[in-house]
Amino acid sequence: MRPTPPPRTYRVKSFGCQMNVYDGERMAELLGEQGITPAPEGEEADLVVLNTCHIREKAAEKVYSDIGRLRREDGTSPLIAVAGCVAQAEGEEIMKRAPAVSMVVGPQAYHRLPAMIAEAVEGRRAVDTDMPAETKFDALPARRKVGPSAFLTVQEGCDKFCTYCVVPYTRGAEVSRPFTDLVEEAKKLVEAGARELTLLGQNVNAWRDADGRGLEKLIEVLAVIPGLARIRYTTSHPNDMTDGLIAAHRDVPQLMPFLHLPVQAGNDRVLKAMNRSHTTESYLRVLDQVRAARPDIALSGDFIVGFPGETDAEFEDTLRLVEQVGYAQCFSFKYSARPGTPAATMDGQVPAAVMDERLQRLQAAVNASQLAFNQASLGKRCTVLVERQGRHAGQWLGKSPWLQSVHFTGDAAIGDLVEVELTEAGPNSLSARLLEPATV
Ligand code: 5AD
Ligand code: SF4
Repeated sequence: MRPTPPPRTYRVKSFGCQMNVYDGERMAELLGEQGITPAPEGEEADLVVLNTCHIREKAAEKVYSDIGRLRREDGTSPLIAVAGCVAQAEGEEIMKRAPAVSMVVGPQAYHRLPAMIAEAVEGRRAVDTDMPAETKFDALPARRKVGPSAFLTVQEGCDKFCTYCVVPYTRGAEVSRPFTDLVEEAKKLVEAGARELTLLGQNVNAWRDADGRGLEKLIEVLAVIPGLARIRYTTSHPNDMTDGLIAAHRDVPQLMPFLHLPVQAGNDRVLKAMNRSHTTESYLRVLDQVRAARPDIALSGDFIVGFPGETDAEFEDTLRLVEQVGYAQCFSFKYSARPGTPAATMDGQVPAAVMDERLQRLQAAVNASQLAFNQASLGKRCTVLVERQGRHAGQWLGKSPWLQSVHFTGDAAIGDLVEVELTEAGPNSLSARLLEPATV
């Protein structure tokens, strides 16, 4: 690689989960601190960070084609950093296959990006996929300006080793950030404009501090930060839904009535093969407890169709579960073999056409469930946190307590918490009538 002038502008492209969105924002802040500014819309950036996801589909292939697309007519490229889980999983391989890339940085090492950029400017390529003991969070700059709804990573990594999943390999073992650091960061986020915090973790409800305090204690303390109106958390594992956390849904008004609790499949043989370590019955028991604590709770789930060996009858158990639970929201995926995971070499890999058909049937069931949930909300009065302007003049978009997308017209501003009445429902959003001017 030849030396290049120091980059003046950057673009961070994040793929995948909310954790990646959070990491992407943090990398942008880090670059901002170096005096590098976001590239104006439509203009090429001097430095492009591809913040990749490895969870499904041909993730690595997509990265290589993205890199190819960055190539200029004269064959040169901007400075390219590959970050995220593909960086972690592929490491040196990316350097070999993509000479245009000068930096490969894993999710636990991106605080070292400025030093890597300095190397790249000198013409040296660098790979950093360490999972260092020192935490990247201490090295990241304070957050100065955020939207009304902000993410706060409280926990990373996963020890569950579901047989289809790369996360325990790419994100490493479960690590919880310390209580006091989180309270400090939460306060700063509120000062910087956040009215809602979503606590993030690959296994967020496994968060524990050194004294053994669980997520509900953190939620209780965050709930009294002046100016913070709403708290959410994602993603949880059914086995880590403790009585204390369930009780928080009853006792902490700032904790929104929404729970994303993936189940993946509705058949116990499949769940066992997935190494989920819960059954459909134990999952449903948790949901019953959560509903007893907070009757209006909106439930959300993740599903995988076509796990190796899944029969038609076993898939139909998943459909039945969706109907039984009455989800407000669901994410459904075709199984995708991830190299290095146990399921990738299991017998009975399901043909693509069968997976397509199952996904379609599942999505039809999920859409019906979402629509029914939204229709059941009609006539309700609730708050909406205004997140952005709509397409039409005077139109605003925001979220209900149940994480529904709501649009309304009237006098409001981004960051307001307004009272509305829900008046029309579709499968993915609702219309509302503004009841009173902004409460803030
Ligand atoms: N194939 C398909 N879906 C997957 N997920 C995780 N790994 C895979 C895979 N190999 C889904 C799960 C998880 C969500 C984030 O992605 O449903 O909850
Ligand atoms: Fe992956 Fe979630 Fe299972 Fe952990 S609990 S291995 S992140 S699917």
